[in-house]
Amino acid sequence: MAKSIRMDELTLGVCYYPEHWPEGLWEDDFRRMREMNISVIRMAEFSWAMLEPQEGVFDFSFFARVMDLAHSYGLKVILGTPTATPPAWLTHKYPEVLNARQNGELIKHGMRRHYNYSSPKYRELCERIVRNMVSAYKDHPSVIGWQLDNEFNCEKNVFYAEADHAKFRVWLKEKYGTLDNLNKAWGTVFWSQTYTEWEQLHLSQTDSPNPHLALDEKRFISDNVISFARLQADIIRELAPQHWVTTNGLFGHLENHEMTDELLDFFSYDSYPQFSTIFYKEDEINPLQDRQSSINLTNVRSISPNFCVMEQQSGPGGWVDRIEMGTPRPGQIRLWSYQSVLHGTDLLVYFRWRTATFGTEIYWHGINDYHNQPNRRVREVAQVGGEFAKIGSLIAGTTYRAEVAFLQDYPNNWDAELDVWHGPLQWQSMRSWFKQLQYRHIPVDSLFLRSHTSLEDLAKYKVIVYPHPAIMTDETAELLTRYVEQGGQLFFGARTGYKDLNGQCYMRPFPGPVAGLCGITVEDFTLVKGKIKAAELNWEGRLSEGTKTVGFNEILSVQNPEAEVVARYSSEYYKDAPALTRRTYGEGQVWYYGAAYSEPVVDALLDEIGLISPLAGRIEAPAEVEMGIRASEDAAYAFLLNYMEHPVTVIVKQSATELLTGATVENEVEMPAYGVMIVKL
Ligand code: GAL
Repeated sequence: MAKSIRMDELTLGVCYYPEHWPEGLWEDDFRRMREMNISVIRMAEFSWAMLEPQEGVFDFSFFARVMDLAHSYGLKVILGTPTATPPAWLTHKYPEVLNARQNGELIKHGMRRHYNYSSPKYRELCERIVRNMVSAYKDHPSVIGWQLDNEFNCEKNVFYAEADHAKFRVWLKEKYGTLDNLNKAWGTVFWSQTYTEWEQLHLSQTDSPNPHLALDEKRFISDNVISFARLQADIIRELAPQHWVTTNGLFGHLENHEMTDELLDFFSYDSYPQFSTIFYKEDEINPLQDRQSSINLTNVRSISPNFCVMEQQSGPGGWVDRIEMGTPRPGQIRLWSYQSVLHGTDLLVYFRWRTATFGTEIYWHGINDYHNQPNRRVREVAQVGGEFAKIGSLIAGTTYRAEVAFLQDYPNNWDAELDVWHGPLQWQSMRSWFKQLQYRHIPVDSLFLRSHTSLEDLAKYKVIVYPHPAIMTDETAELLTRYVEQGGQLFFGARTGYKDLNGQCYMRPFPGPVAGLCGITVEDFTLVKGKIKAAELNWEGRLSEGTKTVGFNEILSVQNPEAEVVARYSSEYYKDAPALTRRTYGEGQVWYYGAAYSEPVVDALLDEIGLISPLAGRIEAPAEVEMGIRASEDAAYAFLLNYMEHPVTVIVKQSATELLTGATVENEVEMPAYGVMIVKL
């Protein structure tokens, strides 16, 4: 059972940094928070230098004063352990705690997350500060829970300190037992990489490392973060069993599912939808823009169906020297808040109460500006606060509902980082599917394939898209076969099934373990890149002429007469060869597409399988509106989010109550720019 936050009502919080402000401001801040229905503050996650100003000298009085005052205003407190920012005295005295660049050069003090997870000294000092901190605050009546560190693996998710190399060797010894096994798993006979002593082993030391080493490196980093997090979680569990434990962020080289299952009460995420303005491409057709955050939120709820957003964007973001973002338009902060809520957030904490007047983040704006006078962002958050008070108990605990899932797994995601032959395909296909499903209002989940994933987990979904699982075992193929057999629709794309768990290529025809299920093999193939142009696709006239394949062209060969050719290439030397096949197997169907999915292809496929929005009978909305459902056993609510800077019209087919206004809605309803509706179904 996935672990979720348990809230009785939707709850608002805010990140607060009392150490950034004169003490005289605190009381007014807390009073105004309460007026806005903010009832939780998150603090202290970067405060090590205050809590332990000198080695072994602790002072917990500052935050105790803040907490006393917060408590008198009825505010609850989430405390962050301060280990993301080791103080200068610490890194100066114990430079071995620092992370290093690949060439061994130490990353010096001055930013944050400059430490490594392996140093025994760092672990010892972290355990000590956490133990002292938890002891100091555990009985304070305001505290409800703890955030471990801050955003594990943000900013840096590779580690090359001496301690990391040493720990990697221990990890490898445990995994492989003998160098012989390791040499085989990594194929080290290639280029004379054979290791004859454990001491010769290092984390990757070049930009083009042995790919099997690179995959193990990511597994190691993930295990290492989890063991580091465990030290802190264990201390909190021991000293403060009444409090919950979480951590925030969704960053690389970390199995968040595993970490949550093993250590946390629920997962938390930091949502900054305006990052989309940084990556915005002028030429993208139907861009997702800030709606793209829903992809991350989809992944987050695969970890915890109900979760906390520990940092919700509440102004323009920016560091002094980088990450420039535009200001959220009026209504967008509220829209993004409900985007988080739709996907399962029950505790939503804004980043941050007031913009810092000093430091690297003077442009990462909070709700209040430096001048601290009322502004439109304060009013918008107060509106959300009022709405949460009204609807919060109905929505809390309900969860997002979907009948389609993206199947993903960590080994493939990690292998894809290095491997330019399948890596780029994944993002291309995910986005195409996500966009088309979004625009058709078909909710989608993420499902991470793990060692205990069962047929029951898969069978919840009518459709599963597993676009480019280069790494595929026979056991997974067996599970997927059972899924199709019992009635599932399964979609694969190019480069499926040609690698084993070490990332070595199988000596069997593609798509390896699922060739039998799909009833095809891949006869020939080419990357589509540069001068090698994409072939056109002919879907028996059903796709508009000129639809091009993307990323890869695999020339398929039908092996089983039950596999039917649905589309063929219509240009290139493989003109007329099969590009897309479908095989009916048991009650279900399996599709194999020899390319990466583009939007027109997904569009045609969705028509082909007749998948429609579960809301089709109730509400019609333009593609610009995200629609999704949160439901419990006895109630269901449709969320409508208008991402456009102009009003849109939706059609409510049966009279229903809109929760935010309490109004009865029917027929044509206008949603304002960045408007939100929650319709009781
Ligand atoms: C997050 C981080 C916060 C703050 C924010 C804005 O990644 O957790 O501490 O830095 O970004 O930069």
